[in-house]
Amino acid sequence: MWKLLVCSVLVRLACHVDLVAGERGVEFLTGNCSYSPKYFKNFSLTIVDNLLNMDMDLNRPIQRGFKADIDIQLRLANAKNFQSMFNQKSDVCALTSGVKNSLFKTWFKDMTKDSNFMYNCPVEVGHYYLRNWRMGSSMTHKFLIPGEYRAKVNFFYGKYATKSYEEALTLTIDAILSN
Ligand SMILES: *[C@@H]1O[C@H](CO)[C@@H](O)[C@H](O)[C@H]1NC(C)=O
Ligand SMILES: *[C@@H]1O[C@H](CO)[C@@H](O)[C@H](O)[C@H]1NC(C)=O
Repeated sequence: MWKLLVCSVLVRLACHVDLVAGERGVEFLTGNCSYSPKYFKNFSLTIVDNLLNMDMDLNRPIQRGFKADIDIQLRLANAKNFQSMFNQKSDVCALTSGVKNSLFKTWFKDMTKDSNFMYNCPVEVGHYYLRNWRMGSSMTHKFLIPGEYRAKVNFFYGKYATKSYEEALTLTIDAILSN
């Protein structure tokens, strides 16, 4: 078994967030992540002035069977806990090359303009990054309720609750969505 490592995370909040007029705003609050050293040499997440940065070194190629589970949770005003609003599991390699649109694909496509992410699998060993990515309003149109959100994205191989399950990377990001 590979012990998960905690990613390097830096969050520096902007004093005020400049939102483009007429845009619904997403303000990142905090984040954390963990990764398996079997799949990543290193992983770091930085949020500075509401822009998201990621740096990763792959330890082995990303192949078919690499899955993403996106869980979007909302905490209503005065509620204690987050509740899942939306959950989607997809095969990352099949998804990025397929025609079907999904939340993950929309995000991934938008991120590719600020990154060197690869569209085709296998994704070879190397250094990949996302620089100064802002979550625009086209990313959030599905979430109509303003409030406190938590996005949890788990990347894994195999199947949950079976011996084949192997966690590769889990990211948790808290954000406020305002109107
Ligand atoms: C990340 O934050 C979530 C929510 O607070 C928590 O459940 C999880 O254990 C944290 N993970 C790490 C690696 O710190
Ligand atoms: C991982 O990356 C971070 C940020 O780039 C760096 O500070 C750290 O030393 C790296 N850790 C390893 C084990 O390479």
